[in-house]
Amino acid sequence: MTVISDFMQNDHVEIDAIAERATAAAAAGDAATMAREGAEFLKRLQLHIDQEEKLLFPAFEERSGMSEGGPSVQMKMEHDDMRPILEQLHAAVAGKDKAGYQKASKALFDILVPHNQKEEQMMYPMLDDTMGADASALLAEVKAMAA
Ligand SMILES: [Fe+2]
Ligand SMILES: [Fe+2]
Repeated sequence: MTVISDFMQNDHVEIDAIAERATAAAAAGDAATMAREGAEFLKRLQLHIDQEEKLLFPAFEERSGMSEGGPSVQMKMEHDDMRPILEQLHAAVAGKDKAGYQKASKALFDILVPHNQKEEQMMYPMLDDTMGADASALLAEVKAMAA
């Protein structure tokens, strides 16, 4: 089954597209669009991280017994590395700071691009494998968090 992989991978694609609109607006000097799309991007990314940290990773750790030194621990460390940069992005959105937004966005994506690749190639497939028949129920919980 690839239910968790498919959904979360698609979420990466959607979130990347919003980020792209925000940085394009910043580059074009359109601060209002940058702020609107940037705020949407930050909201969606935070929800995605919460879905991973509050539901998917704990379920994986419980079921696999891999709570120390496993892939979910590495993914959480990378989320932690993103947090100060996310704060900078929030500040740039609030201040309609186009240059600040572009700079922080680049720093974020230096971490986020390889992070998402690791999740798509390793973490999510391991989640699907580990959860087996319960993957769909877990995904339903993930979706409910967005409601
Ligand atoms: Fe993640
Ligand atoms: Fe992710």
